[in-house]
Amino acid sequence: MLLERKKSSCSEYWSTLDGGDDPHAMDGLEGGHHDNGHHGAAPPAAEEAGAASEEEEEEEEEGDGSELGLQSHWDDVYAHELALHREHGEQGEIWFGADVQETMADFTARLAAAVAGGTYAGPGSLGERGRPDAGGAAQWDVLDVGCGNGLLLHALAHRGFQRLTGTDYSEAGVQLACDLLARLPAAASPALRAAALLVDDVLASKLAAPFQLVTDKGTLDAVGLHPTQGAARRRAYRHAMAHLVRPGGLLVITSCNSTTDELIAEFTMPPSEATPASNGTLNEEENGSEVYCCDPAFDYVDHVRSYPVYHFGGSSGTRVCTVAFKRRGSH
Ligand SMILES: C[S@@+](CC[C@H](N)C(=O)[O-])C[C@H]1O[C@@H](n2cnc3c(N)ncnc32)[C@H](O)[C@@H]1O
Repeated sequence: MLLERKKSSCSEYWSTLDGGDDPHAMDGLEGGHHDNGHHGAAPPAAEEAGAASEEEEEEEEEGDGSELGLQSHWDDVYAHELALHREHGEQGEIWFGADVQETMADFTARLAAAVAGGTYAGPGSLGERGRPDAGGAAQWDVLDVGCGNGLLLHALAHRGFQRLTGTDYSEAGVQLACDLLARLPAAASPALRAAALLVDDVLASKLAAPFQLVTDKGTLDAVGLHPTQGAARRRAYRHAMAHLVRPGGLLVITSCNSTTDELIAEFTMPPSEATPASNGTLNEEENGSEVYCCDPAFDYVDHVRSYPVYHFGGSSGTRVCTVAFKRRGSH
């Protein structure tokens, strides 16, 4: 089953740091990771992308989760990393590796620059370069959910984003991120020094103002791996994002546990399909004049096309995807 296949490859992925020459890469493919749908081309329509049926979601609830979906796991991980940092100065793991982090930050910066500058011309149209300061996106309020050690914020600051917030439900993770900021050299970006780091559960966020840009590297994956409530928590995550991303704002997700097409299907399908009637929360929500009981909250914008493609058994795919969405509605 697809989710089992991806979960195991994700766990392997998360236990390694380097994407490029990772010896686990082919192991993951040999274990059945042969058709994850990443082909680097423009994605099919959401209906064709094969959104999980109710039955599939129920199956997921029964057995596809892991400890990676539990806060206790992340508290342990970051307590360990914090101790290593304080003893040896280590910065902690870069989830999915440094290459993916840099690619995601670069893609996000180019996309934000194009959207803010009014030059965005559709999927696949982003130029090689582009910095947020060009079109005013440098002043966007940016939130990284599930920021862990906060290193993605460093990469975003490096590309010119000025107003940065990172949140994580693990206090030890946020503490590690704070310690890393406190040790920055004097020449480091003032924006990074001024970044806000907060303990916050994205599924029950206390953040008030919506953000123009929300980033997520591995957090939705973790949310969906809860041992008994993975599908329900992914629904709650989508609901949370509809509040955290300002209308017209961007959501950029990097995942190793969903394909590009699956993320598109999940985030652009109408809530009536995405949310069972038993979970009535979405149907009661309003945002200004916009009631999104009948419309999807997000539109697909673009995705990273440069991740290495692996071929196996006549199929091809990438081991990680980064997909950008735009929150429906105007400011
Ligand atoms: C795979 S790690 C990625 C960490 C970080 N984004 C990075 O790229 O290094 C998943 C992160 O999501 C956080 N997380 C999981 N569920 C969360 C929730 N409901 N609210 C906030 N953070 C959460 C975990 O504590 C962990 O830091």
